[in-house]
Amino acid sequence: LEYQLRPIVQEEFQRFGEANSTAFGYVWRPDRSEDAEKVFEFERSLAAIDGDEILSTAGIFSFEMTTPGGALPVAGVTWVGVRPTHRRRGILTAMMRRQLDDVRERGEAVAALWASESVIYGRFGYGMAAQQETFSILRSHSALAHGLPSDGRTRFVDRETAIEQWPAAYERVWAGRPGFMSRNETWWRHHALPERDRRLSDHRGPFYVQYEEAGEVLGYAAYGVQDPETADGQPASRLTVVHLQAATHAANCALWRFIFGVDLVERIDAWWRPLDDALPWMLADPRRLTRRVSDSLWLRPVDVSAMLEARRYSFEGQLTFDVRDNFGDWAEGRYVLEGGADGARCRRTRAEPTFSLEAADLGAIFLGGARLQTLAAAGRVQGDAAALRQADLMFSWSVAPWCPEVF
Ligand SMILES: CC(C)(COP(=O)(O)OP(=O)(O)OC[C@H]1O[C@@H](n2cnc3c(N)ncnc32)[C@H](O)[C@@H]1OP(=O)(O)O)[C@@H](O)C(=O)NCCC(=O)NCCS
Repeated sequence: LEYQLRPIVQEEFQRFGEANSTAFGYVWRPDRSEDAEKVFEFERSLAAIDGDEILSTAGIFSFEMTTPGGALPVAGVTWVGVRPTHRRRGILTAMMRRQLDDVRERGEAVAALWASESVIYGRFGYGMAAQQETFSILRSHSALAHGLPSDGRTRFVDRETAIEQWPAAYERVWAGRPGFMSRNETWWRHHALPERDRRLSDHRGPFYVQYEEAGEVLGYAAYGVQDPETADGQPASRLTVVHLQAATHAANCALWRFIFGVDLVERIDAWWRPLDDALPWMLADPRRLTRRVSDSLWLRPVDVSAMLEARRYSFEGQLTFDVRDNFGDWAEGRYVLEGGADGARCRRTRAEPTFSLEAADLGAIFLGGARLQTLAAAGRVQGDAAALRQADLMFSWSVAPWCPEVF
């Protein structure tokens, strides 16, 4: 199989988009490609090209991601696809290698992605770092038994106001939650709040609602509505929440109260919620909330020391461990980590390790989302039981990692 692997230039974007759509089984709509192109980083794109034909696609968004108690630059891997005519011949493998070399060269310590299938990326050293829940509840069972009073006001705003005023609330949440990606104005306008939101293509909306106290926006929600009927002609309207962020508990309660108060709605769905969402604890009848768990963010260590120094640890301690990198030399090595509430130092060492794990498993525990003891029980991690317990206490964090947006 002959091809050239290189970034694309702007003139190739339409053909790149077409190749990617073909890989995903979509039809490329050139008239709707403007948003995608606006946030696209051409110099970080990658395509396998054979003559005139684009065989595969990949890209990277340059993000800053929050960690427990900190933040670091990460490479947000995206646009991954290989034409169905050219699959299982190593093109993805070649793109993954090239990307990781580029990520290392840029000095980013971690690569991050959302996977279309969870079977794909483990072999390349990506581990499941965060999970999410999809909520679904009938409005007739959505009574709240708990919640703080809120003396602010909830009001509808237009898209321009949302683009202007929501970032401040997002940034307040951002700092307190591992797994959030930074958003610049272009991102807000063309990815988070696009004029035509593909996630809601079969809905009316999006509608933008914000919660304010004394003129300050403390939270917001965006949702769409659709009106299917049941087979026997009963209304079955559905409200789908695609954004809901609150900088304070009162704002969170106010926004859910608002959502559950929208008339003519039969069922409410909310996507991309964290595992420790407050909502189940607010409901009078929490079992009525259907909660579907799935993986969200996957992380791939590229520079282990820099990555582990970019977070804080819940307990003071020192760990010595081996990282195996089955896909290359990016993460391979023996490390000693001294971490605590104020930060960490991580260096290569020759000392005896007390446990060993693969790059993917280090990605999985990095934000406090997975435990080493669980991974040991799964046969993925080997080591001294006391050392694994200590490592779990150090890596654990007071809030669950949350990546509230697919990229
Ligand atoms: C996923 C995809 C990019 C894989 O590309 P590819 O060029 O066929 O992958 P490779 O040939 O490099 O495969 C490497 C290995 O991964 C395995 N693999 C790749 N994709 C797989 C999948 N979807 N399911 C199971 N195994 C898969 C291959 O069998 C191969 O295994 P081997 O080394 O043991 O032979 C391609 O199938 C695709 O475009 N799928 C649809 C779009 C999509 O899901 N993109 C991912 C977005 S996150």
